[in-house]
Amino acid sequence: MKALILVGGFGTRLRPLTLSLPKPLVEFANKPMILHQIEALKAIGVTEVILAINYQPEIMLSFLKEFEKKLDIKITCSQETEPLGTAGPLALARNKLIDDDSGKPFFVLNSDVICDYPFKEMIDFHNSHAGEASIVVTKVDEPSKYGVVIIEETTGKVEKFMEKPKIFVGNKINAGIYLLSPSVLNRIGLRPTSIEKEVFPSIAAENKLYAMVLPGFWMDIGQPKDYITGLRLYLDSLRKKSSSKLAVGSHIVGNVLVDESAVIGNGCLIGPDVAIGPGCVIESGVRLSCCTVMRGVRIQKHACISGSIIGWHSIVGRWARVENLSILGEDVHVGDEVYSNGGVVLPHKEIKSSILKPEIVM
Ligand code: GDD
Ligand code: MG
Repeated sequence: MKALILVGGFGTRLRPLTLSLPKPLVEFANKPMILHQIEALKAIGVTEVILAINYQPEIMLSFLKEFEKKLDIKITCSQETEPLGTAGPLALARNKLIDDDSGKPFFVLNSDVICDYPFKEMIDFHNSHAGEASIVVTKVDEPSKYGVVIIEETTGKVEKFMEKPKIFVGNKINAGIYLLSPSVLNRIGLRPTSIEKEVFPSIAAENKLYAMVLPGFWMDIGQPKDYITGLRLYLDSLRKKSSSKLAVGSHIVGNVLVDESAVIGNGCLIGPDVAIGPGCVIESGVRLSCCTVMRGVRIQKHACISGSIIGWHSIVGRWARVENLSILGEDVHVGDEVYSNGGVVLPHKEIKSSILKPEIVM
């Protein structure tokens, strides 16, 4: 089977991290976002992943070549010369998606969604109905940011698909994970097209779109606040599935993921909901909660970080306090005793005085 991952878009909502790396390569729980998806696809027998890309294909491919070998899966690119939206890329990759006439369905994924991917269940679900397309839906509190789906409860048949409706119509939303029969490609032309606004509504109108409700957690981690919430949900789920991957010790509180090459000093208190990447040095007396510390970061003595993301190779000084959705880009240096309350700091900056309210520091 094959899968196509939509990796276009500039990831603007995840700046400053996406100033250093394309969004799908930004680590989530110590692993590039897209690898969570590729590994889960491989696990159910997908043999080729096509990246639908319109931005920095070289970085993405050279990076993924390494994993192609490790994971033993083919990874190729389908590159747009202009952004084709969320459906146009399927038309562009048509020949790759159906290079034989087996009629096998293929997966399509948004690159920024994290959950326990129900790929196996989707195949069974797709085989169980007579429709052309199966999508995964999940319940959220704020449906207006998403594609809202109205389904017939007993069969899962989609009665209506509305992308980002202004008024409340329901709380089941499109989770950005699809299994499509090849015939769907006959509905998509080679031009900028939205799968959510054009393709799904028309398949639903012909009663050929079916939705499966996701049992576990789900998050679109394309924005800092959701990224941090997503880490909590992901670590909760990891605790249930394979708790041996989580850190243990008297200095650990709740669910914490620590790369084996990271070094943690004495008297630290770490957790809950923290990910510490490779090569990090956490000096003594540091307090970390609800945060991600990317590869190569140094947190100096007695600093305190909560609800924030610390970008690659940054340094946080002694007794500094970084909190409330502060996002530090790559190689940022926060001075000793500096306080950041929601500061969003661009790469390679040095912060010498406190940031008292949420703002962007260029
Ligand atoms: N190749 C390519 N070309 N990919 C694109 C393009 C494009 O022109 N535009 C967007 N994408 C990719 C993005 O990289 C992302 O992986 C996916 O398409 C969806 O785009 P987002 O920008 O993340 O959309 P969204 O989060 O506002 O809404 C979508 O996701 C929600 C779930 O998170 C929709 O599919 C909603 O219906 C859905 O509920
Ligand atoms: Mg998104």
